[in-house]
Amino acid sequence: MGFYAEQVVPRIINVVCGVKEAELLRRRVCEGLEGKVLEIGFGSGLNVPFYPEAVTWVDAVEPSDVGWRLAHKRVAATSVHVERGGLDGQALPFADDSFDAALSTWTLCTIPDADAALREVRRVLKPGGTLHFVEHGLAPAGDENVRRWQRRLDHLEQRLLDGCHLTRPIVDMLTTAGFVITDLDVFYEKGAPKPFGADSLGIAVSPG
Ligand SMILES: C[S@@+](CC[C@H](N)C(=O)[O-])C[C@H]1O[C@@H](n2cnc3c(N)ncnc32)[C@H](O)[C@@H]1O
Repeated sequence: MGFYAEQVVPRIINVVCGVKEAELLRRRVCEGLEGKVLEIGFGSGLNVPFYPEAVTWVDAVEPSDVGWRLAHKRVAATSVHVERGGLDGQALPFADDSFDAALSTWTLCTIPDADAALREVRRVLKPGGTLHFVEHGLAPAGDENVRRWQRRLDHLEQRLLDGCHLTRPIVDMLTTAGFVITDLDVFYEKGAPKPFGADSLGIAVSPG
């Protein structure tokens, strides 16, 4: 991994993903989390202030050491026990059925094999466990113009943000992995150009 991906990208993400508009979405997506929680793509811990009190433990999975260091103050300030439980969402170092819930925010765009990561999340969730997600991806069917721009810009985005894709069909990926989506809101993020802000926010249940 080069200097840019290792040192610069996590800092850009900390700033870009730390905007006020994103905070509202973080609050929404964290609502209802409880018990032992897995967070994949923990980044710089921007969700930590929004963990509900009912969360007792968080295993954070994050490959970037810089991201983890940037998270230090947020982790130190929370009463929730947070530890870096792993480095790669595609191969989780946890036993089957070990988490009550999981959280993924703007991460499925970046994990190289996001389908494998979703299978892993299902494996480690208890039957009936929930994945809370907010992800950007392919614009809704019908928004062909936005989709065209996403295809044009996808390669550039991947280069600038270390593998971030604009065209992943998030909802289809979740259902293909066997999740049952019980809550879903599809919208364009305020303040973001449409190709970068086609979001899906919701809850997916792992039926076991
Ligand atoms: C756009 S950032 C989002 C960070 C954070 N979830 C947030 O909401 O601010 C994507 C994150 O996915 C992480 N990531 C990349 N590959 C990964 C992998 N294989 N497993 C887990 N996380 C990964 C990146 O290091 C980065 O922190």
